[in-house]
Order: sequence, then C-alpha cells, then structure tokens
Amino acid sequence: GAAVEVDIGGMKPGEKLTVEWRGKPVWIVRRTPEQLEALKKTTPQVADPESKRTAYPTPEYAKNEHRSIKPEYFVAVGICSHLGCSPSDKFQTGAQPSLPDDWTGGFLCPCHGSTFDLAGRVFKNKPAPDNLEVPPHMYLSDTKLLIG
Ligand code: FES
Repeated sequence: GAAVEVDIGGMKPGEKLTVEWRGKPVWIVRRTPEQLEALKKTTPQVADPESKRTAYPTPEYAKNEHRSIKPEYFVAVGICSHLGCSPSDKFQTGAQPSLPDDWTGGFLCPCHGSTFDLAGRVFKNKPAPDNLEVPPHMYLSDTKLLIG
C-alpha cells in the first residue's frame, strides 16, 4: 500500500486525527503535557511497558515510554490487538463507566473491555495480547508526517 502524507500543522494539544492507511484507521494524537506526565503513572500498570511483545512489533524508534518519535505526537493503528474492534477515545480523566476511578486518559475497546493508556499500552490483565500497533512512520518536516 501507498504511504500516506499527513499535515499535522493545525493540530491543537489534546486533538486526535484519523487517517486511513492500507485500509486501516491510523490515529495521530497530539498529547498535552499533562497527558505525557500521566504515562509515568501508567507505566507500572501496563502489561508491556517497554513494548517487548511481538504480536505487533513496535518500531525501534517507538520503544520508549511515550511510544513515539516525538513525545507530543502519538501515531497508532486504531485497531485492538485482541480481535480487531476499534477502541474509543477516553481522554477524559477521572471516574467513568467501565473505567477505574483513577483513569488518566486513553482508549477503551468496547468488545471485551481492553483498556490502553495514551501511549496505546494495554493495561495488565486485559484480553488484548499486545499494545496498539505503531505503524512505520517518519517526519518529512515539523508539520508533515509520512505513514507507511
Ligand atoms: Fe478489543 Fe476484544 S477486540 S478487547
């Protein structure tokens, strides 16, 4: 499939864009400083904090706490690693239905309840076997991202 060029220049902190790549939804999330800070809290709560699992191998440049090239921008395939449903955004913090009271933002898969933090890392004891897939990508400039 062809690579997809995305202009991220107009994205505000806290915003998410969805583009299509190889027939799959790819999310780009511009994380706020608070959302990045929250990853420190979720690191001990996720099943594979260092992205060592290989169902959807994480590119070397995203094997870090924020799972991205630039900390601010998270790029992921928006498909659950369990049975392929599309998780919903749960960026709001605090108590919400089906989520822990200390929820700091992330994604919830409606099919079997897997939860992911804002780096797409699956929480412990959830059915999804791996973190959300980070597709191959690179920056062509400060505002242009190439996916694929
Ligand atoms: Fe997402 Fe089963 S498909 S938890």
